[in-house]
This record gives sequence, structure tokens and C-alpha cells, in this order.
Amino acid sequence: MDIRIEKTATPKQKPTDESKLGFGQIFSDHMLIVDYENGKGWFNARIVPFQNLSFSPATAVFHYGCEIFEGLKAYRTAEGNVQLFRPIENVRRMNNSAERMCLPQMDEEDMLQLIEKYVEVEKDWVPNTFGTSLYLRPFILGIDETLGVHTIQKAQFLIIASPSGSYYPEGINPVKIMIETEDVRAVRGGTGYAKCGGNYAASTRAGHKAELQGYSQVLWLDGVEQKYIEEVGAMNVMFKIDGTVVTPGLYGSVLPGITRKSCIELLKDKGIAVEERKISADELFQALREGRLEEAWGTGTAAVVSPIGELSYKGEKYTINNFEIGETTQWLYDTLTGMQWGKTEDNKGWIVPIK
Ligand code: PLP
Ligand code: COI
Repeated sequence: MDIRIEKTATPKQKPTDESKLGFGQIFSDHMLIVDYENGKGWFNARIVPFQNLSFSPATAVFHYGCEIFEGLKAYRTAEGNVQLFRPIENVRRMNNSAERMCLPQMDEEDMLQLIEKYVEVEKDWVPNTFGTSLYLRPFILGIDETLGVHTIQKAQFLIIASPSGSYYPEGINPVKIMIETEDVRAVRGGTGYAKCGGNYAASTRAGHKAELQGYSQVLWLDGVEQKYIEEVGAMNVMFKIDGTVVTPGLYGSVLPGITRKSCIELLKDKGIAVEERKISADELFQALREGRLEEAWGTGTAAVVSPIGELSYKGEKYTINNFEIGETTQWLYDTLTGMQWGKTEDNKGWIVPIK
């Protein structure tokens, strides 16, 4: 794919204090845009100065939420090189989300090339400090100008980037999570496995309620019986029970996390048993009461590996591992971040260097 590059004439000042980046608040100098029309395919790929978009108020995405997105990071190594972590997985998930939402898919190699070229242009925006990165947000919008609900004929693929620090203000310290017992996030046959904006819009109410009570995010239960653990607002979950790591299986309602997949592989390589299966809240709290729940953590691109120190369920509060980071959680965090920031060797072929 040919990509036209138009550099900004007024580059922005880059953040000087990398300890205060936060998450997703500052944006880099450029954005990538590719147009799509049914019958024509993807065309007019360009990297242009970061700017507002202009659309008719009748545009489909504003009314029917025809939108999907991805999240990945560009990391800077101590030697100053820039690298991506398993970007092909984001490309494939983007296409799976597109398929679910009837948005156009893109050739895998083309999408990968667009991501790599964009990062090459924005390379100087990748922060230097360990734990910080350039968070990349590819997304696709359905932009037909009609109020009829139809299959999308016109779309745009975009990428923006944000130099970011840790997702939670807690950093690697344990977070408090509230189990949601009223709203549900997804049901089988719905859009749970797709990374579409609507999933997040519908989860905001529960997230807000949790925040008001001092919790970082909610842990969702299944949408049918509200009995089985699914995932947290922006991460998958894992529990170490009696030495075995248990994580909810992928049955269509949970986002298939790339960090989840990577952690499962790393744990298995280390000889730790991993079970991907249904786990009920009752089973979890029984293990907790019997002292068999050793650790709990979340996994996600933004959240990395985040220990869970407290779970609240039906008004009861349960502390996990004395609100301390567990051994396996710490090992996963170190192993994963070691690879991502180039401190340890990538023996999995997961790292993609940027020119
Ligand atoms: N679950 C949800 C709902 C998410 O938003 C995310 C973040 O992308 C994840 C899980 C973790 O997925 P990944 O590890 O691919 O970032
Ligand atoms: C990510 O981890 O990349 C996500 O997309 C989470 C996001 C909703 C902040």
C-alpha cells in the first residue's frame, strides 16, 4: 500500500516529565487515515498532522456505534530502539471484530505495514522510561451518511498515538475490583469477543458505580446466569488456586486478550498448570475462604499485569494475598515487560523491531 506522508509544520512540545504521562491524555504529532468504499476497497493511505475529523451529523458511527478499535504499544529499549509486541495478533483481532460488526476487513500484511510505518514516523514520541510507551490506537469507523441501518459501504481506518505511563494510578501495586451483579457486559452471540466501542459505552455505568465506591474497575459475571467470572473492564483475569492458574475460557463473550494468550504460554513454558474454563464466583470465594486462592491478577495491553488486592462481592470485601503482589504475578510482570522493553531476550518471536 502506498502511504503519503505530510509532516506537521508545527511539531508539539514533547512531554518532559515522563513520570506524569498518565494514560491516553497527550497525542503525538500525526495520525494515519485510510479510506474505504465498497467496490473500491481501501485507498488513499496517508499520515497527516493530528487534527479534528469532520463528518456529517448523519454519519452512521454517531448513531449506530459502527466502530471497532485496537490497542497496542511501541516500546523503547535501553539502547534506544523502538519495538512492537505481537502486532499481528492485534491485526487479526481487528479483522475478527470487523467481521462481527460488518465493517470492512483489511489484508493482514497491509494493516501491519500501516502500523509499522506510522510508528516509524512517530518514533520520537516513544517515551524513554521503563514502564512508559507510545500507546497506539488503530480504529475503524463506519461513515455512511444515512440514517438507515444497513451494512456499511464507506469506512475509515485510523491510527492515533499517545505517549502513556501506567493505566492505573496504582502502577504495579494491587488494585481493588468490584464484582458487578446488576449490569452485564456481554452474552454469547453478542459482541463480547469483538473490540467495539459499544461494549465499553454499555459498561460505563457499572464502572462509574464502582469508582464512586473506591474501586478501579468492575469484574463482570456472565450475562445469562450472572454466576461465572468473565473479565474486568479493560483486562482479562487469572486466579492462582492451589498452584494452578485458572482463567475464564473464551466462549464468545470475553475479549480474547493478547496479554492473556501470552501469559498462558509463558506460564505453561514454566511448567505451571493453566486451566481455561468456567469458574463461578462461588468457586472463587470458596477457595478464598479456604485459603486456597493464592493470587489474582488482570492482564491487558494498557494494564500490563495488574495484581488484584481486593474483591468486593454483594457488599462483602475480600482481601487477596494480604493486598500484596504475588510471586507468579510478579514473575509474569517481569517476564513480559522484560521482553517488551527489550531487557530480556525474545525467545518467542513476539518482538517486531521498527526501523
Ligand atoms: N478485556 C477487555 C475488555 C479489554 O478492553 C482489554 C484490553 O484490550 C483486555 C481484555 C485485554 O486485552 P489485550 O491483552 O489484548 O490488551
Ligand atoms: C488496551 O488495553 O489496549 C485497551 O484497549 C484497554 C482500553 C479500553 C483502555
